[in-house]
Amino acid sequence: MRLSRYFLPVLKETPAEAQIVSHRLMLRAGMIKQASAGIYSWLPLGFRVLERIQQIVHEEQERAGHVPLLMPTLQSADLWRESGRYDAYGEEMLRIKDRGGRDLLFSPTAEELITDIFRSYVKSYKDLPLTLYQIQWKFRDEIRPRFGVMRGREFLMKDGYNFDLTKEAALHAYNRHLVSYLRTYERMGLKAIPMRADSGPIGGEDTHEFLVLAETGESEVFYDSAVTDLTFGDRVIDYDSVEECAGVLEEFTSRYARTDETHDPALFDAIPEERRRTARGIEVGQIFYFGTKYSEPLGATVQDAEGNKVPVHMGSHGIGVSRLLGALIEANHDDKGIIWPEGVTPFHCGIVNLKQGDAAADAACENLYDQLRTAGLEPLYDDRDERAGAKFATMDLIGLPWRITVGPRGLKNGVVELTSRRTGESEEMAPEAAVQRIVGIYRDHP
Ligand SMILES: Nc1ncnc2c1ncn2[C@@H]1O[C@H](COP(=O)(O)OP(=O)(O)O)[C@@H](O)[C@H]1O
Ligand SMILES: [Mg+2]
Repeated sequence: MRLSRYFLPVLKETPAEAQIVSHRLMLRAGMIKQASAGIYSWLPLGFRVLERIQQIVHEEQERAGHVPLLMPTLQSADLWRESGRYDAYGEEMLRIKDRGGRDLLFSPTAEELITDIFRSYVKSYKDLPLTLYQIQWKFRDEIRPRFGVMRGREFLMKDGYNFDLTKEAALHAYNRHLVSYLRTYERMGLKAIPMRADSGPIGGEDTHEFLVLAETGESEVFYDSAVTDLTFGDRVIDYDSVEECAGVLEEFTSRYARTDETHDPALFDAIPEERRRTARGIEVGQIFYFGTKYSEPLGATVQDAEGNKVPVHMGSHGIGVSRLLGALIEANHDDKGIIWPEGVTPFHCGIVNLKQGDAAADAACENLYDQLRTAGLEPLYDDRDERAGAKFATMDLIGLPWRITVGPRGLKNGVVELTSRRTGESEEMAPEAAVQRIVGIYRDHP
């Protein structure tokens, strides 16, 4: 992409309405524009990151054997009456009437609709296990939408639903989700800690929330500092193996880590004092096991091996896809702007031409641009006729992890400058070497 042809409406002023840094930076970097309270347009730069995040979520869900589909945002109230949640859900549910006077709603979550799909087609235990998921917009009429995409009214969520014959099988699905979520967040460069939580209106027995530690987080959390040392890394896991998945759950959830909803001061005080931590966190995901809570009222049954009709055991599993942008920025920024982790960056690298119109500089930039694209990468080339300072400020604000700076002076010595956004360190090297370096970096960050 050439910046001269892109749409990147960066703001010079810090928007007064934004209370937290991620919201300020998303507005300043031209990523989102508020359409109405808690509802945003995703401008091109924000949209690119949203797509990167979705792609990682899809890849990790499919790796775990989960099957994508897409359900509508508008749903009939009838199904929600069947489950009893139409009245129970309260004011957060946006209710709409169509021209025939029929009650519709904008889906805040989709247990009912997915269970209806399941019961329409699946009749035998032989078709289990099955986990279906979607990435779709949700609407919750929050009283106090705030912090930009962190607590929106319209937001993008990955919601997955497992269907299993027995409680044991459904708990395996739960563990599988936990593992896939650990991988998902790590690929994004985020540390998200699974914490025991409260099940709220979805109901159920087992639930963990994934929290990113941040001062601006809405949840108060209590944990043993040992949990922050755990990483999933690049270990290979067999998602069909009950033991392997249970082992990961055990490893990542046996230490104390809870939100204020389930906090138990007596258990907390049993941790050695130097490891006790109280902090704030952003909830970026949640997994639930809720058994037959929906399959029973909605009649989602299968025939088991003995020919008995039994309700399936279910769980639901969410990732706050749009909220993740806010969480990522809260965790990765400095006073100049965003610092994207390689896994989610909107462009792999920036190219800054210090002297637009200089024949040698223009040619070198075009060359770099072509070579990076040929290598399968997406560079953002600042080819505008602007001062170097303004170009650097834009690149720092939008946070591309790598920048190649090209100027006539360096080119006389056959070099360009490669700069890391995170460390600020620069190195001079031949243009080909800079391309090789960047290609290598992204080979390690698939
Ligand atoms: N209002 C919102 N704005 C942005 N993301 C949200 C919002 N509500 C929930 N999410 C995200 O969707 C994920 C799954 O939703 P869920 O657990 O049902 O939400 P909650 O715990 O707020 O009821 C949450 O972990 C969170 O990351
Ligand atoms: Mg939740």
